[in-house]
Amino acid sequence: MTRISLTVDGRKVVDDVEPRMLLVQYLREKLGKTGTVVGCDTSNCGACTVHLDGTSVKSCNVLAVQAEGSEVTTIEGLAQDGQLHPVQEAFRECHGLQCGYCTPGMIMQSVDLLKENPSPTEEEIRLGLEGNLCRCTGYHNIVKAVQYAAEHGGSTGVSAATPADVEASEPQETGAHV
Ligand code: FES
Ligand code: FES
Repeated sequence: MTRISLTVDGRKVVDDVEPRMLLVQYLREKLGKTGTVVGCDTSNCGACTVHLDGTSVKSCNVLAVQAEGSEVTTIEGLAQDGQLHPVQEAFRECHGLQCGYCTPGMIMQSVDLLKENPSPTEEEIRLGLEGNLCRCTGYHNIVKAVQYAAEHGGSTGVSAATPADVEASEPQETGAHV
């Protein structure tokens, strides 16, 4: 076991994990962050996308121990004080929401895309989301949602979770959360 200390959605956590544990497993199985999902296990689908120190990564391609000392934001940390992130609002407004597998990753990747490029062209949006797959429909409304977000503050609320030393109210069986 290896001890790791990181911040997840604004909450500091300390845990002992197996060195082989993937970040997505850690988030889901130890922290209960089931909004981050496993769609393929082969680094292709993007369903597991989270932000690691403000940059999107496929968390099935990162070991939990590699997140040591980092700040991780998941889809569950985007909304702040009951307010959806502007990109989440845009997906709702433009009907970009699809299934629970692809949508969280699409949103996390879109937030990062807009941080890098606040006014992307349609082509740049499609290129920026090429690592996020939906196997059952077109991407038209997703592209529209990112365009809408670009016009409505989508680039300003990036990695919205604010790091804070939050006392864990319920210590988990698997580790000490401080
Ligand atoms: S589960 Fe990570 S890319 Fe598909
Ligand atoms: S994979 Fe989510 S709607 Fe197609």
